[in-house]
Order: sequence, then structure tokens, then C-alpha cells
Amino acid sequence: MEKIIFDYTFSLSPPLDIENGLQLENIKSRYNEAISSLKNLLRKNPGFLNLPSINELNEMYNFAIAKEKLYENIVLIGIGGSSLGFQAISQALLSYYHNLFDSKERNGKPRVFFLDNIDPYQINPLTDLIDFSKTLFFVISKSGKTTETLATFLILREKIQNELGNEGVKDHIIVITENKSDNELLKLSIQEKYKVFPFPEHLGGRYSALSIVALLPLCFLKINPQEIIKGAKSIKDKITSPDPEENPSLFSALIYLLFYKKGKKIQIIMPYSSKLEKLGEWYCQLWAESLGKKYTIDGQEINWGQTPVRVLGTKDQHSQIQLYMEGPRDKIITFWEIDSYSDDIKIPQLPIKFSSIEYLENRMLSQVFKAEKKATEIALAENNRPSVTFILPELNPYYIGQFILMLEMQTALAGEMLNINPFDQPGVELGKKYTFSLLNRKGYKKPDLLEIKHYRI
Ligand code: PA5
Repeated sequence: MEKIIFDYTFSLSPPLDIENGLQLENIKSRYNEAISSLKNLLRKNPGFLNLPSINELNEMYNFAIAKEKLYENIVLIGIGGSSLGFQAISQALLSYYHNLFDSKERNGKPRVFFLDNIDPYQINPLTDLIDFSKTLFFVISKSGKTTETLATFLILREKIQNELGNEGVKDHIIVITENKSDNELLKLSIQEKYKVFPFPEHLGGRYSALSIVALLPLCFLKINPQEIIKGAKSIKDKITSPDPEENPSLFSALIYLLFYKKGKKIQIIMPYSSKLEKLGEWYCQLWAESLGKKYTIDGQEINWGQTPVRVLGTKDQHSQIQLYMEGPRDKIITFWEIDSYSDDIKIPQLPIKFSSIEYLENRMLSQVFKAEKKATEIALAENNRPSVTFILPELNPYYIGQFILMLEMQTALAGEMLNINPFDQPGVELGKKYTFSLLNRKGYKKPDLLEIKHYRI
């Protein structure tokens, strides 16, 4: 079995100059500190390392497959960590144009839609598009209290009821939410007899991609979660190993933290595949929401945060790269690459030879993709701009499972090394509270609002 590769050649000095590259001795001098952080984290038994069992996965899959003929569409209502894991995995594993194929061409797999914004321009056309009697709605919210999810759900619930009647509602809504006595989404679900699954207590949204939260909806797309979790389990020993040279999560976390100290306050995530774009979005949430923190665990003000920015290769070589190449020296670039394509294309030959085109003839598109990435990486390095690359052997469920768990561990370890809590999000919670108060939810005090100063243009 091939392995995921973490290539850090262009993070080092040499080839980079001493100001912008890391020295191996410096990285090694931090090993002991990193190892003790790893041990501390493992003592806390982080929830995301507890992966579902084979039986649990079989139950999920059988539950979905028993209903496979019923639904033409899956609509997922949820936001942030309650949606992005499923979005990322389904985009990586389904055909890029999945929804545009007819049912036969999709092998009977439902189309998939996400309602992760309360934008009427997004919601209205979807309700015009879908046939409610052939649609399954997932409502996913750990707290059961998130404004966007509740608002969208209330709108959809009424529409489903109007279309299908009270009985219809229960066959068309699955709720995944926390089993807590103050969870009113749960109370409503029980009252209206929806199928409810508990949101795992030990997981926060952004660490839930390898749990029922993403895996159950994936089962309805006939994506068997066994391979995803097999991949994740296969990397568990490595990402918990106390040897930084064996442990890619520990080693890469250390590299990002050392770069932050060198002023690289921005991490650019640049997957070279359109099918990894959503995974990039998921990772940006994970890195930003877990590590962007005002205080350490002991209450010291730290204001740490390496801003993740997502771009796409090769597309952004013709847009953002100019800035990364010549602008402020505040970035570390993370490339994601796929080594082998199951669906490659050969560029055809022209009948007449043109010297500026000939070089492309008979090349596989994957070769061009790789050359473009390598060229970008080398050009950045020549400008003393550091980068690292993760290479996935193939785009399949096994490696996606491995990669997700590896990145979750990398993020949690970075938090531990910084002595901050990577599992809370007080900043997000504050915004949620002010939303409640501005919409007059009982018991929430309004923030002090400033007098507005503006131009009318
Ligand atoms: O990762 C997180 O904790 C957040 O992004 C949450 O998933 C998001 O705010 C939605 O919360 P909830 O699942 O409670 O609706």
C-alpha cells in the first residue's frame, strides 16, 4: 500500500535563505517539547481519535441502503463543522458533476445539496428545483440552537408539511443533534417523530468528519464508510507515535509553529485538484477555529492564530501567486497533490506541428498538473518563499480517511504545543449570542451599538 507523503524540502534552509527557511537542527531541538505535548494530548483522550466501530458503520450503511430507492435528493441543513466534513468527503469521492447526471448515470445515487447559509437566493431556487416526495433532509446541529440551521429548518419543515402532510415529514427528515435536556430541536424532533441520531458528545463540529455526522449522509450516497474509517484507523499508530520523524502530525505541526515564529502568519492551502477544494475549506475551518485564540489554557493573553487562506491550483497560479511570490514575506504555502489519477486524459496530437504547442502533445493531464505545481514550488523557493506538500497516492476513501485524521491530529497537537484549547470556540459563541439578542431572543442582552457613520453613494 502506498503512503501519503509529507515533502518539506522547500521549508528548509538551504535551499531557502536563513531568514525564511527552517534549519533541521532547530526543528530537532524542539522535539522533546513536541513529544511532551503529544503525551499531554493523548492523556486527555481527544474525542476524534475514537473512531466508529465496524458494527456501527455496518448499521449506518444498512439503514441507508434499506431506503436507497426512496430518495432522489439529499439536502443537508447545517453549518460549519456540522456540514463541511460531509461536503468535503462527498466532493472528493463523487464525480465532479455528480448532480448534473441523470439517475442512471449516477448509479441511483441521490443528488446532493447543502443549505449552509441563510440566503433566500440559495434556499428559494432549491425548493423550486426538488421534488419533496423524493427528498431526504438531514438537519445537523450539535447544539440544536444555531440560528442559521434553525431558521432554514423551520422554513423547510413547513414546506415539507405543506407538500407531504404531517405523516410525510417523518420519512423525509433525519436529525443529528445532541442528547441534552435543553435541546429544543431534539424536543421538536421527538414530538414530530423524525428519525433522530445523537450527535457524538465527545466531538465538536469541526472534528466530526469521521463520525456519524458526515458518514451517515455519505451512506445515502452509497459511499461505504468502512474504507474511510479503515484508512483513518491505519494511520492512528503513526499520528500517536512519540517519534516526530515517524509522526507526520507532530512533525508538520512543529513546522507550522516554527514558521509562525518566523513571521509566517498566513498559511496558504493550495490543493491541486478541484475535488479537494471543499476539503481545503474544511481544513481552513479546523485550523482557524481551533487555533485562533485570545488566551492560553492558563488565561494568559496570547492572541495566536495563523490565518488559513484557501486557493486552488492551477487556477490561482494566474491570480494569487503573484502576491505570494513578491508580496509580504508572511506566508507558508501548503500544497496538496494527488499522485495517481484513476481518470486521466491524454492530450491529443495536432496534424500540423507548432513549436509552441508540440510540447503538450501526448502528455497526460496529470503530468501537466504536476509540472505546474513543481514549477510554482521551485519559483517560490527561488524567491525564498517556503512551502510544504502533502501528496495523496490516489483520491479514494482510504486516503481521505487517513488524511482527515492526520490533519485533525496536526491541529490538536499545534493547540497543545501552544498551550491553547483547540476544541473550544469562544469567539464564535459570542457572535451567536449577539445574533440571539439582536433578534430579541429572550434572556440575551443587546450589545452596545455605536451610532452609524456612513456615506450614501
Ligand atoms: O466546529 C464548530 O464547532 C462549529 O463550526 C459548529 O459546527 C457550528 O457553529 C455549528 O454548530 P451546531 O452544530 O451546534 O449547529
